[in-house]
Amino acid sequence: MKYQDIISKMTIEEKAAFLGGKGEWETWGFERLGIPSIFCSDGPHGIRKQAGAGDHLGLNASLPATCFPTAATIANSWNEELGETLGETLGEEAMAQGVNVLLGPGLNIKRSPLCGRNFEYFSEDPYLAGKMAASYVRGIQSQGVYACPKHFAVNSQELRRMAMNSVLDERTLREIYLTGFEIAVKEGKAKTIMSAYNEVNGTYANENKHLLTDILRKDWGFDGIVITDWGASNDHALGVAAGSNLEMPNPGLDSARELIAAVDSGKISMEDVDARVDELLDAVMTLYVNAQNKSDDFDKNVHHSIARRAAAESAILLKNEEKILPLKAGAKVAVIGDFAFVPRYQGAGSSLVNPTKIETVSEMIGSYDLQVVGMSRGYSRDGKEDAATRKEALDLAARADIVLFFFGLNEDSESEGMDRNHMRIPQNQINLLQELGQVNANLVGIISAGSAIEMPWHHYFKAMLHCYLNGQAGAGAVLDILTGSVNPSGKLSETIPRRHEDTPAYRYYPSRERTSEYREGLYVGYRYYDTAEIPVLYPFGFGLSYTEFEYSDITVSEAGVSFAITNVGEMAGAEVAQLYVGLKDSKIFRPAKELKGFAKVSLKPGEKKTVTIPFDDKTFRYWNVKTDKWEIEDGNYSIMVGSSSANIRLTANIMKSETTEVLPYNREEMPSYYSGKIENVSDAEFEKLLGRRIPEGKWSGLLDQNDALCQMYYAKSGLARFAYRRLTAVKKKADASGKPNLNVLFIYNMPFRAMAKMTGGAVSMEMVGGFVKVVNGHFFKGIGTVIGGFFRNRRKNKAFEAKIKS
Ligand code: BGC
Repeated sequence: MKYQDIISKMTIEEKAAFLGGKGEWETWGFERLGIPSIFCSDGPHGIRKQAGAGDHLGLNASLPATCFPTAATIANSWNEELGETLGETLGEEAMAQGVNVLLGPGLNIKRSPLCGRNFEYFSEDPYLAGKMAASYVRGIQSQGVYACPKHFAVNSQELRRMAMNSVLDERTLREIYLTGFEIAVKEGKAKTIMSAYNEVNGTYANENKHLLTDILRKDWGFDGIVITDWGASNDHALGVAAGSNLEMPNPGLDSARELIAAVDSGKISMEDVDARVDELLDAVMTLYVNAQNKSDDFDKNVHHSIARRAAAESAILLKNEEKILPLKAGAKVAVIGDFAFVPRYQGAGSSLVNPTKIETVSEMIGSYDLQVVGMSRGYSRDGKEDAATRKEALDLAARADIVLFFFGLNEDSESEGMDRNHMRIPQNQINLLQELGQVNANLVGIISAGSAIEMPWHHYFKAMLHCYLNGQAGAGAVLDILTGSVNPSGKLSETIPRRHEDTPAYRYYPSRERTSEYREGLYVGYRYYDTAEIPVLYPFGFGLSYTEFEYSDITVSEAGVSFAITNVGEMAGAEVAQLYVGLKDSKIFRPAKELKGFAKVSLKPGEKKTVTIPFDDKTFRYWNVKTDKWEIEDGNYSIMVGSSSANIRLTANIMKSETTEVLPYNREEMPSYYSGKIENVSDAEFEKLLGRRIPEGKWSGLLDQNDALCQMYYAKSGLARFAYRRLTAVKKKADASGKPNLNVLFIYNMPFRAMAKMTGGAVSMEMVGGFVKVVNGHFFKGIGTVIGGFFRNRRKNKAFEAKIKS
């Protein structure tokens, strides 16, 4: 052990306390031992350091920091260099604010467009998500701050996120849900990782030896620390034994006592505790040294301009009929839509950044060479109809040559802590759009939304620019693209399906009971649409430019694929070329094509460049569930180079002669997986995929400490059911107000155990046990345990505190 000298001086109490947080964001420091404390902060697209009272949901104000576009936006740039620059900038701001660990990036897979946190995640594809995440990690860590890729793993649903069991087969786990993390760890060299709230195949992610030890540390060589998500620890001792180092946020000393008791009883070993302490000491000591002589300031203007460049590179031109864009100098335009006045530029929850400034289209458009006939909010943000504003907008539209309509998802549509239940934008915006279409045929739509939405109204527009959530400097970036000083080069990092019903997890998401069954398996996003031949509105990897690119001269070698791209248009621009690999007539089932590389190339008009995308260890591999290792099936692979997943420009082939000797599947038993038509996978077929029985997921019997508060619906106790009804009423009221109440959402989905894990020692697990008894109908017994537990906890806390006073 590296820190044997310190560890040998630590008491068991100090070790146990050290492995848990102190306060919302900090770790324990021990002066007597020379152990400093470190500070963690969200979040992925800007620093959210709370100056006053800490809470983890972005409710209390944080220090001003640059609000960059969210991960869902930046992924559309397909630009790893940009990711690294953003990482460096985030790292610099973190350092200036005294933050040692930046809790991001988030790279969970967008299994369904409905996940409330999709705006914080990169992609439906693990390769793209991993590459982008690795670039952030490299940038952040270059500044002496540790990045913390999250949430490890299979955390693609917000509903009851802390009490959900994700059930999936090992191949889907490895190929879809872990590959991104693997890239972030191996290529980004991430030094911390955040364990997710949920269970993975029946074991909490934070206690999952398979994930944290076998895969993360042994297979991938991770040499950093595992930090629990805020409240994600269930059994701290099992977490420590599985490879988790730091229980956050504020479990109090009851948790430390639990750890000591586990050592005493032999449930876990002292070696496990020492190993975790050693790893954590390494992080704490390194981060402390890194932060010496740090600067307390950063250049807000420079960072703002980086945010603007990032927003410009990440916007996607979805449509541009009659080349209506870029706007001609002096074009007569009407600006319509509330988003032009109050931009929708980031999402809600723990990632909420307090921006250094916010630019708006309404304020900036005057400095562009356009004739603005007027501006109107057009629709109201809360979804209600507003006849006067609508009339104002329609009058303006009638007077303009071109209408710029700013619209999309409202704040209350997507948020941490809740999933959407449909993919529509508010109806009042659609109503206005239909009327605008009656008075002006030249509509240009500028969309803000953090995740895929249904666009049945797309035909109203001649052009559509999808900006996702583009950060505090988004307005200038949009105007630069609309007027042509920037040529759009973003490509979709997720598919825009035609309708929610077409999405692969439509029948499986979100799960309502205890388990979330990943029946669609590998068929996430374009992997499904392409294989099952489901038409989509805009495919994965799609995005237009003001210029055009020609692809030619493909050659393939063992090392990779080379080809040429020529800019055959009249404007300088950048193209994202994508490498997909497939194997027809494969013996194992597999998606028709999978992304295995990409390159973003800038070209002047007429310029031609040769591009090489190297193959890597992921190009041909698949996870063989029989032999339990990565293998390559022999065959003649298609090497496809495309400008999107649906537009393959060049193809070639390469033979691979490695052999899979033990075939993992029997084609006859798995027709849905062999055809990709996974909409209705039967129990029997899912069991074949899982290789075991489907675990029982139905609620029955009594509630326990891991059930969420919203499950009190099933409680035996009338009092608990009353509490459930009250909580639901408060939630409904908050939902109806148009602004999600994150506290209520959090409590609604929170398991009973979190009362102990997040209250700094005020509540012990014994008291939680008492509450659960009450809920299960044993009122007096339960209250007795709560009251007795309260006094016991207080006494024990005091005694423990005395022991660790440094
Ligand atoms: C979120 C994490 C976040 C943490 C701290 C949790 O609720 O899931 O992403 O880093 O809170 O704010």
